[in-house]
Amino acid sequence: MHIHLKCLAAAAIAALSLTAHAEKVHISTPGTSLLLDATEGKPLKFVYYGDALTNADIANIDAAGTPSFNAYPVYGNNPDKETAFRAVHSDGGMITEMKVTGVTKTAADDGASVTTVRMADTLYPFYIDVNYRTYPDEDVIETWTEYTNKEKGSVQLTRFMSAYLPIRRSDVHVSQLYGSWANEGIVEEAPLPHGVKMIKNTDGTRNSHTSHGEVMISLDGKARENEGRVIGAALCYGGNYKLMFDTDDSDYHHFFAGIYEDNSPYTLAKGETFVTPPLALTYSDEGLSGASRSFHRWGRNHKLAHGKDLRKILLNSWEGVYFDINEEGMQQMMSDIASMGGELFVMDDGWFGNKYKRATDNSSLGDWTVDTAKLPHGIKGLCDAARERGIRFGIWLEPEMTNSVSELYEKHPEYVIKNPKRDAIQGRGGTQLVLDLSNPKVQDLVFNIVDTLMTAYPQIDYIKWDANAPIMNHGSQYLTADKQSHLYIDYHKGFEQTLKRIRSKYPDVTIQACASGGGRANWGVLPYFDEFWVSDNTDALQRIYMQWGTSYFFPAIAMASHISASPNHQTNRLVPLKFRTDVAMSGRLGMEIQPKNMTEKEKEQTKKAIADYKLIRPVVQHGDIYRLLSPYDRKGAASLMYVTPEKDKAAFYWWKTETFCNQQLPRVTMAGLDPAKTYTIRELNRVDTVPLPFEGKSFTGEFLMSNGLEMPLTHTVEWNDRNDYSSRVLILEAK
Ligand code: DGJ
Repeated sequence: MHIHLKCLAAAAIAALSLTAHAEKVHISTPGTSLLLDATEGKPLKFVYYGDALTNADIANIDAAGTPSFNAYPVYGNNPDKETAFRAVHSDGGMITEMKVTGVTKTAADDGASVTTVRMADTLYPFYIDVNYRTYPDEDVIETWTEYTNKEKGSVQLTRFMSAYLPIRRSDVHVSQLYGSWANEGIVEEAPLPHGVKMIKNTDGTRNSHTSHGEVMISLDGKARENEGRVIGAALCYGGNYKLMFDTDDSDYHHFFAGIYEDNSPYTLAKGETFVTPPLALTYSDEGLSGASRSFHRWGRNHKLAHGKDLRKILLNSWEGVYFDINEEGMQQMMSDIASMGGELFVMDDGWFGNKYKRATDNSSLGDWTVDTAKLPHGIKGLCDAARERGIRFGIWLEPEMTNSVSELYEKHPEYVIKNPKRDAIQGRGGTQLVLDLSNPKVQDLVFNIVDTLMTAYPQIDYIKWDANAPIMNHGSQYLTADKQSHLYIDYHKGFEQTLKRIRSKYPDVTIQACASGGGRANWGVLPYFDEFWVSDNTDALQRIYMQWGTSYFFPAIAMASHISASPNHQTNRLVPLKFRTDVAMSGRLGMEIQPKNMTEKEKEQTKKAIADYKLIRPVVQHGDIYRLLSPYDRKGAASLMYVTPEKDKAAFYWWKTETFCNQQLPRVTMAGLDPAKTYTIRELNRVDTVPLPFEGKSFTGEFLMSNGLEMPLTHTVEWNDRNDYSSRVLILEAK
């Protein structure tokens, strides 16, 4: 058996070279270097990670003074430090001692090359390979580890980190994302303390509501957006994870990242290989935004499904009608989004159930048959209605779940995750249960849910794949007694296998990863998804904070961002349409509203905004991000921009986050432009009765980056249209 948990399968790997006596191993990207000492017969040593090295630097690097840390520390003799790996060997031995046996470099798919350092234990036939994947154009290195057991019996893995990295001594700050449902992606930055700092997730099914498996590590003290050395690290995994910094008496910060081993010891039978998920590392001396740009480019080019295409502008039915789905209502919403220039309509929860109708959240998951009382002409009728209106049709599913009130559960109670001898605790609606994806029959079931739907209705263009329950009952009715602790890991292995099957049969369908909002924002699942739902909270003001944090690691093309109603359904905040739209336009624009409750004037305004978004869609969705003024700095405003790689077009966003009389806000200087180019400025989604002073005027990139433009604090509008919000979206076009 081959336990394969990679972010992306590296198919057709062909060996290029084998360096039997390698010493210094240089893993390089265009702008960065990772240097190892892989002397045969010795432990693998970490030497350097940072700016690209020259051969002369490499030749003398030992003389410059380098730390002497193992590149993949295992629990062995003298185990006074934290380690990346622990195991109980087949004879009960607790100690592992690895020596390098060789280095290979292979070509992988997508233009990548993989350097593998092979190591063997000095006592047991137990092998560890440490891998590093690079792409020719990206400053990202993916590193992961594989363990192969050729001992006489099983080896129990009790820690299996993907990677370890010694950071540096002293003043290092870590920026992480924390939060909870409806408040995801909040930035927290703090200096690393002595002792241990741990970021972890134990949800079981989703993993980014309360914390994120990605961090920014600022090497020059406090993090800055556009200056300073930063290491970015993103664990490509959808399940329970652990990121740990251990700062010991040497003042070095030792960073470990991988699957969280808690409650998950893994038995590796003789002959088996366990593959950890990759950790993606990037290094930038252009601050947090520089590291983000690398993650975004790498993500769009190599990870995210259809990362090089553009996303459609959609209307989702959820906040418009919730469970109150009916044919007439769906058709009206389709007509409305089509008339405003949208391109896709997505019918959310509430459309299914036969014996048990899905009227609210307490039944029917698993019974994916159309409720014909609600939709007499079924999915086909909806697909036709969309086509008649010149738009595409999408649908909501929650394939990994069931309810105890469902026909599926009545037929197959053995499919749900629970301890075989205990009653299950039930989740959402008091009845929701998670299907056991460690079971191949359940994997087939989940595949068939999508397959049946897509075979019957190939016109379906988009699937919103939801997941609204954690693993609340640690136990599998499928796994044997000695493998119950494999559940958390095998669930995700089964999930990935299923997604792979779906993607290989349906490569073109757009799939959104939704998980009670932003529970699945991670690079482990994104290779199978086109985007994720950032949060169930659509309040524009709070979204500025959430989207800011989320953009540290994920590109705008992947961040679904919808215009919703006012008062907002989560915060009850009254926010004008202009501001709601200006925030949504900074991500993958969509709508989540009942358009029939909008006035004609609002619909007209939205139609114009959608047309304007189309002008900047390629810049936002494929451009480079420059975050300019952080909402977390509490200066009263937030601002960011996207610039095309050619630097011929940019989209600039400015949102006021607080309002006081006689308020003074900082003038924002731009970034990422070509200083020598001249850019003409135009305001998009304009509501003011008079143009901005700089409307249609041209400025050099140099001027805009050193001086910026003064944003008026209010909008010039009719008296009755005045409010306390202010925001601007500008398009910059080089002459
Ligand atoms: C949770 C999602 O985050 C929402 O957008 C919506 O799809 C509901 N589930 C439907 O039950």
